[in-house]
Amino acid sequence: MTKKNNNNQSQGLMSDQDMVEIHSKLNVDKHPPTKGFLIAPLVFVFVFGCLIFVCSIQLAHSTNQFQLHPPTEIVVLTEEEKESLRIERKIESGKKVFAVRCASCHQANGLGIQGQYPPLAGSKWVTSDPALISNIILKGLKGEITVKGEVYGTSAAVNMAAVPITDREIANVTTYVRSAWGNTASEITEEEVSFFRADSEDQVEQWTGTQLVEMFPSVFSN
Ligand code: HEC
Repeated sequence: MTKKNNNNQSQGLMSDQDMVEIHSKLNVDKHPPTKGFLIAPLVFVFVFGCLIFVCSIQLAHSTNQFQLHPPTEIVVLTEEEKESLRIERKIESGKKVFAVRCASCHQANGLGIQGQYPPLAGSKWVTSDPALISNIILKGLKGEITVKGEVYGTSAAVNMAAVPITDREIANVTTYVRSAWGNTASEITEEEVSFFRADSEDQVEQWTGTQLVEMFPSVFSN
């Protein structure tokens, strides 16, 4: 095929003039006049371009640099507000620990069950020395105790086993219990609990009521 074309050219069968004519004819056949049709898509492209431009500016403004969840307002907390937020969260997480680890016996309302499980609401075992309540959770408690004038632990079958939770969980749950149901005792920190844990290392068994009463004379003096 190429060979034949070359031959034609070399033999001069088609003049330059012919070639130009044929090509311009072909050109007309292949490309019907497009004037007037081209304008419409161009206008669309331009209009959409403008739209996208305007919308992006609008979006960038209203979403604060395209953030998915832009802050509605910047809040600067004072040290006091930060502190109360920290306590609030600590108590909130302590409440969850309580629901899982304590409420089955002491009840969600902290009132316990008369004759069986002593109340935590208004109990000085709860609201006095941070070491007392922490020790009870760390090692458990058995034997007779008096809470709000009532005697508990008279039956050996009803006692409290050590609650196997972390120092942080103990700090959170005690802080919750000391501030719930009308109790207004101070926070207990994780560091304090760690200290109490190390300090009571030698105590393998559950504490007995009499043992704790002797350990905290100032709490039980009256
Ligand atoms: C299996 C039931 C049970 C669970 C769970 C339990 N306790 Fe107790 N708790 C008792 C009993 C029973 C006593 C009383 C023991 C005695 O009389 O010697 C007691 C005593 C106490 C006391 C001292 C008395 C008082 O009422 O103030 C505190 C404080 C206490 N528990 C806190 C807790 C906390 C906090 C938790 C959860 C981390 C917890 N207990 C989980 C049964 C339980």
